[in-house]
Amino acid sequence: MCGIIGYVGDEPALPILRTGLENLEYRGYDSVGVSLRGDEGIRLFKQAGRIKDLVLPDDETTVGIGHTRWSTHGEPTDANAHPHTDCGGDVAVVHNGIIENYDTLREELERDGHTFTSETDTEVVPHLVEERLAAGDDLPTAVTRVLDRLEGTFALGVVAVDFDGIVAARQDSPLVVGHGETGSFIASDVTAFLEHSREVTYVEDGDVAVLTRTGVEITNDGEVVDRPRDHVEWEAEAAEKSGYEHYMLKEIHEQPTALRQTLSGRIDELAGKVDLDLELPKEYLNSLDEVTFVACGTSYHAGMYAARLVETLADVRASAEIASEYEFDGGRDPWRTLVIPVTQSGETADTLSALRRAKRAGARSLAVTNTLGSTVTREADDTVFIRAGPEIGVAATKTFVSQVATLALLTVSLARARGVMSTTRSIEFLSNVRKLPGAVQQVLDAEQAIREAAEEHADDEAFFFIGRKLGYPVALEGALKLKEIAYVHAEGFAAGELKHGPLALVTPESSVLAVLSEGANPKATLNNVKEVESRGAPVLGCTSIEDAEKFLDVSFEVPELGVLSPLIANVCFQLFAYHVAKRKGRSIDKPRNLAKSVTVE
Ligand code: F6R
Repeated sequence: MCGIIGYVGDEPALPILRTGLENLEYRGYDSVGVSLRGDEGIRLFKQAGRIKDLVLPDDETTVGIGHTRWSTHGEPTDANAHPHTDCGGDVAVVHNGIIENYDTLREELERDGHTFTSETDTEVVPHLVEERLAAGDDLPTAVTRVLDRLEGTFALGVVAVDFDGIVAARQDSPLVVGHGETGSFIASDVTAFLEHSREVTYVEDGDVAVLTRTGVEITNDGEVVDRPRDHVEWEAEAAEKSGYEHYMLKEIHEQPTALRQTLSGRIDELAGKVDLDLELPKEYLNSLDEVTFVACGTSYHAGMYAARLVETLADVRASAEIASEYEFDGGRDPWRTLVIPVTQSGETADTLSALRRAKRAGARSLAVTNTLGSTVTREADDTVFIRAGPEIGVAATKTFVSQVATLALLTVSLARARGVMSTTRSIEFLSNVRKLPGAVQQVLDAEQAIREAAEEHADDEAFFFIGRKLGYPVALEGALKLKEIAYVHAEGFAAGELKHGPLALVTPESSVLAVLSEGANPKATLNNVKEVESRGAPVLGCTSIEDAEKFLDVSFEVPELGVLSPLIANVCFQLFAYHVAKRKGRSIDKPRNLAKSVTVE
C-alpha cells in the first residue's frame, strides 16, 4: 500500500505535496518522492526515508505529483522510490498497487532499447507512456492506451513535459479527485488535500482523470463520463482513518484489500500453480524432511496454522515454535530442515535470534514478512512478502490473515514441488484461497451482530476460546487479541483439552467462544460446547455447519472454505475483541505496555 498525491493550479505545488504526503504516511513511509512539471521540464526529488527527511527547494512550480511508499517490489532504496521516469526523464509516474505483468512488459521494453533504473513494477509505466508519446499521442491518449497493457491493481498519477497538467487513472486501487478554489488534486484518499478542498469525486475503475488549469475531465473507455461530486464532512484525523474511529477497526475492514494484494499475480488457478518467486531450488524443497516456523505472538499463531496446512497438504513434518523458546536440536538434519521465521515487522528480536540459531546449526531459511528491507530479509536465505500494507494499530489483524494466505500459497508451492498434490486438488484449494477476500467481506458485513454480542458480554469475568485442528490457533489468536486490547482474562484452548482441567474455570459468568467451522472438526467441538453449556456458560460460535446454532447462545455464520474457514472465523473474533475493548473504553490502537515492534529479547 502506498499513497499518491498530485496538484495542478495557481499555488506553488511543493508545500501542498509535502503536507499531503505527511497526511498519507499512514499508507506507507519507507521512501518518498515528488516530481514537479514546469518550465524547467520534469524535476525529481526522491529518496528512501520519510517526507520529513526529503530536502526540497523553495519553488513556485504549480504542477506536481508525490508518493509515499510501502515497498512491495524492490527494496526501499533511493532508486526504487517513486516517481519513476522514462529514459529521457520527460515523463514521471507515481503508482499505488501492483502491476502483475510487469516482468513481461519490462522484458519487451528492454528488448526495444529502454533502460531501467529501479527494481519496481511501476517503472514499466513511464516507458510505455514514452513509447505512446513518441508515436504521436498526447498524454491523456497515451495513458489511456497504456492502461490496456497493464494487468493488476493501480492508481496512477502521470506528468509529462509536453502536458500542462496531470493524467490519473484507477483500477482497483483508491483514487479521489479534489476540486479546490485554487486548483485540482488527486490522491489515494481525501486526507491528503482536505485542508484545500472538501469537494471530491471518487474515481471509478477504468476511469482516466485529466487535471488541467481549467478543471477536471473524466473519461472511461475513451468516453467522457459524469461522476458525482461529494462534500466531505470528516475532520482530517477521522479522514486519515477513512472515517473509522480506530486504526484497528480500519485495518480489520481492510482485510479483503490486503488479501487481494497478498494474492495478486501469484496464482495460476487454471494450472493449479503458485509463483512466489522463490530462490530456494525446487530440488531442495523436494528433499526436505521438516519445516519449522519460528515466530512470536500473532505471527506464531499464523505459523501454527501453516504448520498444519503443510503437514496435511505438502506431506512433510511441520511444526511452529515460539521463537524465544526455539533451539535447533532434537536430532534434526540441518540440510533437510527449512526454518521459516514469520514476522510482520521483520525486526522482532526473539524471531531474529531464533533464525540466527537455526543458521548457526546449518539450516536454510525463508522469511515471511510484511516489511521490505527489514533485518529478517537481510539475514534469511530467501523471503516472501505478505504485502498487507502498513499496519498502524498495535494489535495485528490484517497482517495475520495475509500471513496465513501467503503461507497457504507456500504450502501449495511445497506440495507441488514435492509432487504430493495433484493438479485437481491444487485447483480446488486455490479456488478457495481466491475466495478469501469475499468470504472475509461477508463476515465484516455482519459486524452489527458481533458488536451486539460483544457489548452484551463485555463485562463477563473471563472469556475462553476453543477450537480443534485449524480452529486451535484461531482460538489462541482470538484470546490474544481480546487480552491485549481489552485487558480481560481470555484464554485459548484446544477444545478437547477442556475436560482435562480448564473446565474448572467455566462458570455462567465466563463466555466461551468456539470455532465450529469446516477445518476445525466442528462435530467433535460441539460435544465440548455441550460440556460448557451444562456448566451454565454462554456459548458464542463461529460456524459454517448446519444446525450448530441450536446449541449456541449466539452464532456467527462463517462461509464454507474448507481448511480456510477457521481463518475467516478469526475475523469474528477480531471484531468481538474490538467491540469489547471499545465498550470498556480502552486505548485500542496503543494498548498499555505493548509496542508494535519488539526489538528486545
Ligand atoms: C499481537 C501482536 C504481537 C506480534 C508479535 C510478533 O497483536 O501484534 O503478538 O504478533 O510481537 O511481531 P512480528 O510479527 O512483527 O514479529
